Amino acid sequence: MIYDADDRLYVALDLPSVEEARALTQTLGGSVSSYKIGLQLLPVGGMDLARTLIDAGKNVFLDFKFHDIDATVEKAVRSVAGFGAQILTVHARPDVMRAAAKGAAGSDLKSIGVTVLTSLDKEDLEAIGYHDDAETLVMRRAVQAADCGIDGVVSSPLEAAAIREGAPKDFLIVTPGVRLHGGDKGDQKRVATPFDALNSGASHIVVGRPINAAPDPRAAAQAVLANIAGA
Ligand code: C5P
Repeated sequence: MIYDADDRLYVALDLPSVEEARALTQTLGGSVSSYKIGLQLLPVGGMDLARTLIDAGKNVFLDFKFHDIDATVEKAVRSVAGFGAQILTVHARPDVMRAAAKGAAGSDLKSIGVTVLTSLDKEDLEAIGYHDDAETLVMRRAVQAADCGIDGVVSSPLEAAAIREGAPKDFLIVTPGVRLHGGDKGDQKRVATPFDALNSGASHIVVGRPINAAPDPRAAAQAVLANIAGA
């Protein structure tokens, strides 16, 4: 699968209102082709904004991280499948991923599994009862994602190379936790630059605050795209 350099960047529209999100997309204009809409916008008109973006020819990634019983996940994914978004996330538990694969069957929607949130490190995992370190858990879940028949995973950039090595052809590896050198990490703990993430095997990167909270979002997006171009 071949992607243009700018199709590899999803800008996370993590903003309080659709008006602010729409204003950001207008500021970014033609320089950004792909957007991620997540839980912050979902209850306040996020799907209407997704519709507008899709109708304007943008790629939309719905980061809803579904996690429920099989039947509910399957039906929820089916509800999203005809919408025209490119990507939808579910949690990377085998039963959830199998249900997502069924729900997305026959559509163009790519469903991908969130392996381990990039804000979690070993100490956080211990606290919730996982005794594997993040890398081990991510690898197990990436293998399970392929076995369950979904289209890819979300991981930190630090695991992208190992996942890519054993992954089926066209497997999506989407990495948040992306920062330019010297950028503020926020709550992200496992980070890399756009160049390193893509060079390691990520198919797409997600960048939120470094663009959506920048004083000049367009310049920030262009700096990320310039870094990507090097990959
Ligand atoms: O602002 P920042 O660049 O850290 O945003 C990263 C985005 O990626 C957020 O929207 C966050 O919800 C999402 N994400 C993540 N880690 C995952 C899955 C999604 O940070 N494992």
